[in-house]
Amino acid sequence: MPEVSLDNGNGRPLIVVSNREPYQHVRREDGSIAVAPTTGGVSVALDALMRERGGTWIAYGGGDADADVVDANDRVTVPPDQPSYTLRRVWLSPEEERRYYDGFSNEGVWPLAHTVHVRPRFRSEDWAAYQRVNARFAAAVSAELTDRQTSVFIQDYHLALLAADLRQLEPAVRTSLFWHIPWPHPDRLRMCPWRAEIMKGLLANDLLAFQLESDRRNFLISVRDELDASVDKGYVTLGRRTTRVIASPIGVDFDRIHRIACDPGLVHEVARLFREERLDDPSVEIIGVGVDRLDYTKGILERLDAIDLLLTRRPDLRRRLAFVQVGVPSRSKIRSYAAIESRIDERVAEINARHGRSATDGPIRYRKSALRLRQLIALYRLADFCVVSSLHDGMNLVAKEFVAAREDLGGVLVLSEMTGASRELTDALIINPYHTEGFALAIERAIYMPLQERTRRMRALRGVVAGRDVFHWASDILDRLSNLNAERAASAWPLAVPRPTLLKRVASSASNVRG
Ligand code: F6P
Repeated sequence: MPEVSLDNGNGRPLIVVSNREPYQHVRREDGSIAVAPTTGGVSVALDALMRERGGTWIAYGGGDADADVVDANDRVTVPPDQPSYTLRRVWLSPEEERRYYDGFSNEGVWPLAHTVHVRPRFRSEDWAAYQRVNARFAAAVSAELTDRQTSVFIQDYHLALLAADLRQLEPAVRTSLFWHIPWPHPDRLRMCPWRAEIMKGLLANDLLAFQLESDRRNFLISVRDELDASVDKGYVTLGRRTTRVIASPIGVDFDRIHRIACDPGLVHEVARLFREERLDDPSVEIIGVGVDRLDYTKGILERLDAIDLLLTRRPDLRRRLAFVQVGVPSRSKIRSYAAIESRIDERVAEINARHGRSATDGPIRYRKSALRLRQLIALYRLADFCVVSSLHDGMNLVAKEFVAAREDLGGVLVLSEMTGASRELTDALIINPYHTEGFALAIERAIYMPLQERTRRMRALRGVVAGRDVFHWASDILDRLSNLNAERAASAWPLAVPRPTLLKRVASSASNVRG
């Protein structure tokens, strides 16, 4: 008998799976262990969900003291200040991290999915590691599945094969995967030699969700063209299995950000930032901010070009404008990331030397490290404008976080039309990062925008961001997963690898990688 389930997805036990863990344990110089949240909008957003829902989050244990704090089953309870869910760590060897994370995920799939000018690299050894690591994650999920009502919610492009591997161990498991980054145009997807395997892996989920309708459309076209699958109104049938494919843009934890922004104690963080970034210099009248991982997709050089042009045309702004750029080092072992990082260093020094006193004392206040959420919110609060200038971005949660932090209705958002966020945040000043003149004019317009217009735009933006926060996003996906026709959810996935072979693969690859 097929199981029919109409209950709310929020009531089911939940397992979230991602590559990046929400909290990392690291050893301090004095030998003690510190725990810190990992940065990134997605971690923050999902942590909010897990704090609220409880459950288990399975992720790669990348901190150098991660292995020292887990129990015999590799579990630890988080967040440290308010334990509310279980983090189960999966271990990778340095070689696996290099090939599965740096290699296949970030030198292959990442540039494949983003329309930028970096060549994707596909190597057989990276692909083999990617398959091995996905199988290991599947084994960890299987070990945590004690209740057959559990919903498994997989995150992102690192784990495209997980559902297919998991289904060999747990045929009736209920899974959804959210693909956080863009899905490439079918012509671009052809660069990937293993695209069919990736699409088949994704179609092992009951529900597959993308940020935008255009991502969903690109995926469906590729599936129709490249697989022997039938596509009917967002349902894809491949063999005996049917997957629902939807678009559901991710949001932020609006209430938490709003609460922190309203906390009178935040004034101390603001004051500290003023001191640290020399914003208390009496000549500074206008403050802009940018917050990004140091990634070539983020359009940081294009942003610096626009500021350079603006200050060339408007020398009166040179001393009056300070632009705080937070750059979080990311994926630094990859050559294209190391290259963008040093190019940004050079460009900041050039602009500061040209428009300021020296390479290190000018309008660009470059802060090359991550900020804690409170500091970040303080930074958003002190800004007159925030710039998000990605060349291509699945969503961009900085844009939404900035809006959530502006309960004072101040601040202007300058937002690239290449971000997923620009589809919803239409009251931002929308720019094309490839058009430096237009971009510079938009920053000038943000600086001189009349108060009434600022307020009107920010109020409208806040309505959008509050109206679709991370909980709405998660409920949308998990409720739809729950309500899917259970006959479909329980249909057997055709086994590509016999179960004993998969188990053997996991067992042999998992030895000796702990910690
Ligand atoms: O945007 C895609 C994404 O993988 C997010 O899930 C994550 O917040 C961000 O990139 C950071 O990536 P990484 O885990 O490689 O530092």
